[in-house]
Amino acid sequence: MAILAIDQGTTGTTCALYEREGQLIVKTYRELTQFYPQAGWVEHDPEEIWQSVVQCVRELRAHAAQPITAIGITNQRETTILWDKNTGNPVHHAIVWQCRRTSELCQRYAAQRELITAKTGLPLDAYFSATKIRWILDHYADLNPETLLFGTVDSWLLWKLTNGAVHATDFTNASRTLLFNIREKRWDDELLDIFAIPKSLLPEVRNSMDDFGRVTALKELDGLPIAAIAGDQQSALFGQCCFEPGSVKNTYGTGCFMVMNTGDTFIQSQHGLLTTLALNAAGKPCYALEGSVFIGGAVIQWLRDGLQLIHHAAESEAMAREVGSNGGVSMVPAFVGLGAPHWNMEARGTLVGLTRGTNRNHIVRAALESIALQSCDVFRAMVADTGIFPKALMVDGGAVSNAFLMQFQADLLDIPVLVPQNIESTSLGAAFLAGLQTGIWQSGAELQALQQVERRYMPTMKPEARELLLMEWQKALRQTITT
Ligand code: G3P
Repeated sequence: MAILAIDQGTTGTTCALYEREGQLIVKTYRELTQFYPQAGWVEHDPEEIWQSVVQCVRELRAHAAQPITAIGITNQRETTILWDKNTGNPVHHAIVWQCRRTSELCQRYAAQRELITAKTGLPLDAYFSATKIRWILDHYADLNPETLLFGTVDSWLLWKLTNGAVHATDFTNASRTLLFNIREKRWDDELLDIFAIPKSLLPEVRNSMDDFGRVTALKELDGLPIAAIAGDQQSALFGQCCFEPGSVKNTYGTGCFMVMNTGDTFIQSQHGLLTTLALNAAGKPCYALEGSVFIGGAVIQWLRDGLQLIHHAAESEAMAREVGSNGGVSMVPAFVGLGAPHWNMEARGTLVGLTRGTNRNHIVRAALESIALQSCDVFRAMVADTGIFPKALMVDGGAVSNAFLMQFQADLLDIPVLVPQNIESTSLGAAFLAGLQTGIWQSGAELQALQQVERRYMPTMKPEARELLLMEWQKALRQTITT
């Protein structure tokens, strides 16, 4: 008996098979081509997204023949796909959440900014789906809206897996579109009017644990129930068993995504965070505060591919340790603007404090520190908004294997940073949800019992050293945000 999690992320697709004890049996991965048609624009090919799932599933089935009970889907959120329901063809490449092409378009709706935030919990920003949908509709004015469907990646995959039979999404993904009223938990007609988006395009919104139909398009999964869908950060929060209000996780992927469960309380952030729907222990929608840092692990990729300062991401740890400090160098990797809590679309990356004594180790160290410093800004905003000082930070994602980074994070936050045994909380969350829905597990408490912390990083930094680092960071930020 096993559960399949399909985790369709920004850089690639992972399929992971979990057994009843929550242990990973096998996983497969396909990288995804990133298209950059113009500076600041990012696209994916929806057909390639689908094919990556097909390939991952086939490879996984070739390695593991265990009977699968249910499937859970988790996905990069906000990324926008429009397709024709008759032909099944996408009308345009997927516009990825990172894509800034609609930054200017957002100005068109500036007068409604407050209303939009009050209803959706989100700032008016190019990050979310609404202006991306509007951009496609504006650029393909001859399309017949009656045959068009919109979906985030979950809906697209669901539609493909069910051969066009199901056009649906879940609360967590819907809450990222700028079109969903998270207080009333429904598509909002007023918002649809503002963005001039026909309601007929939108998928039906279901619970994250729900009946999403059965697979008919892939013989390796034929007839299996799709029992769960959740946006990847909400899925990771669930996979980390952050069910209680005040529990918080940070995922270190392409970007960093910190999410705090706030239970039944909709907290409107006063400090640049967004409010979103997440999941309680029963898999039902609850509220959460989120801070998205656009460039997290991607800064390490840039050191490798852009600057060619390192050959492998893993080298960065030893290089950072080789110098006892950053030598006064600060990096703000605002390559695509700055997300939470600053929300500055125009900001671009800066490297400050260079001297003749600066070497590449200092730059690598400053890059790693920037990941933790950006996360620290988000954490402090969460504390200010909620009045809750979390006892620990749960972490997951690829970069948690970097012990320098994790220790630095614990030191900056002054709380323990806990690494679970399985750092793929995103896929685990989707498996947990699908397993709960189909009766493999009965309760959140049962899931908590399966979770094990593998490593704890305890804060050791002196307060004066912390404050100095944070002051240097603030100075670098001021030099970055010039508009
Ligand atoms: O909001 C975007 C987020 O869902 C993407 O996550 O893991 O694909 O970088 P990831």
